[in-house]
Amino acid sequence: MDPNRIVAIYGSPRRRGNTATLMNAAVAGARAAGAQVDEIVLRDLKLSPCMEIYSCRENGECRIRDDFQAVRERVLGAAGLMLASPIFYYAVSAHTKILMDRFHSLWVKRAWVKPTLPRPAERRKGLFISTGATRGRRLFEGTLLSVRYFFDTLDMDLWRALLYRGLEGETDVLGHPDYLAEAGRAGGELAQAIRSDGNDLNGACAPQE
Ligand SMILES: Cc1cc2nc3c(=O)[nH]c(=O)nc-3n(C[C@H](O)[C@H](O)[C@H](O)COP(=O)(O)O)c2cc1C
Repeated sequence: MDPNRIVAIYGSPRRRGNTATLMNAAVAGARAAGAQVDEIVLRDLKLSPCMEIYSCRENGECRIRDDFQAVRERVLGAAGLMLASPIFYYAVSAHTKILMDRFHSLWVKRAWVKPTLPRPAERRKGLFISTGATRGRRLFEGTLLSVRYFFDTLDMDLWRALLYRGLEGETDVLGHPDYLAEAGRAGGELAQAIRSDGNDLNGACAPQE
């Protein structure tokens, strides 16, 4: 695992929408702080949903051959992850959910195929960025539960969540420079946080497979 590398996953169908604009700020902040950032735009990839055939019970690998295998390697090779998704019906976007479900093959590998493999002592760090149009107190509640569990499958903690309400139009976030500044700072701080973990994460504590 590269202790200076962060993967940034764009989960919105909008290429230049609110979460993508926030993610751009976070990526810029991480790069300014010296991290290598590898950007993945889910809408550009060929990703089948999980078909629940459980062929991954044989060896922990997903049998569906598409862009997932490359994404998996990129995510598992990074010390940090930034995931951005809009709220769709109190959940992540379909693009994001498809990726989460495909990583169930990794959960199966850990839990069923190689259950004795130790989990890394140092957990990796994940930043979650999300926006919704409404303002309800519980808007992000279910999604946070889902993201925490997904990150755990990646041996990762939800290090920070940036959650913004009241953003509906594609460029609404541009009216909130404070949100963009916060995302930029978070990217920079994530870069610093993974680097300070670096000695522990490098080599010995790479994700066990
Ligand atoms: C299919 C769909 C479902 C949505 N569901 C919700 C919702 O449950 N709650 C909410 O507050 N906003 C909802 N929205 C609005 C988006 O979350 C909001 O516009 C968000 O800022 C879009 O982010 P993006 O520009 O990064 O795609 C929905 C939008 C779409 C297209």
